[in-house]
Amino acid sequence: MQWVLAMTYLWLKAGHVIFVIFWMAGLFMLPRYFVYHQEAAEGSPENALWVERERRLLRIILWPSMAVSWILGLALALTIGAFSQPWFHVKLAFVLALSAYHVWLAGYHQALARGERRLSGKRLRLLNEVPGMAAAMIVIMVVLKPFA
Ligand code: HEM
Repeated sequence: MQWVLAMTYLWLKAGHVIFVIFWMAGLFMLPRYFVYHQEAAEGSPENALWVERERRLLRIILWPSMAVSWILGLALALTIGAFSQPWFHVKLAFVLALSAYHVWLAGYHQALARGERRLSGKRLRLLNEVPGMAAAMIVIMVVLKPFA
């Protein structure tokens, strides 16, 4: 019985890491799409193509992988009682920030589809550093558990 529980936990964790990878890949890709999108002329067929590509990336990769990462991550946290551990609070803060960034990207996509181009390509490129830094902090928290 003990063995079955341990194996289930490891499978949950493997699933969690797999979906986190998909989620992060999408978070890196979408602002890149925005940069290329904004290089296309307003109202051009290429502009419409980028709107569709972004919509599909959000619908097929980003939203589902964020949801599954959260569900499996919370299941892991409940199993090991992580809610009372300080490393988990720090991780959670970074994951919430990443989720807020995700929602903001989805909003930027909607604005682009309406023809609003709020940020320059340079700003969008800079913004792409955000998920990388957050992911590094999250992995350090979960692997080293520095405040355990
Ligand atoms: C979406 C909300 C998330 C929750 C609730 C969550 C929660 C957890 C929990 C409780 C564990 C198990 C820790 C252990 O067994 O010691 C875990 C493992 C892990 N998480 Fe998350 N996580 C989330 C998102 C993320 C994100 C965004 C990343 C990376 C960018 C990430 C990377 C990892 C990694 C690499 C592991 C495996 C660590 C190991 O076994 O050493 N997680 N997560």
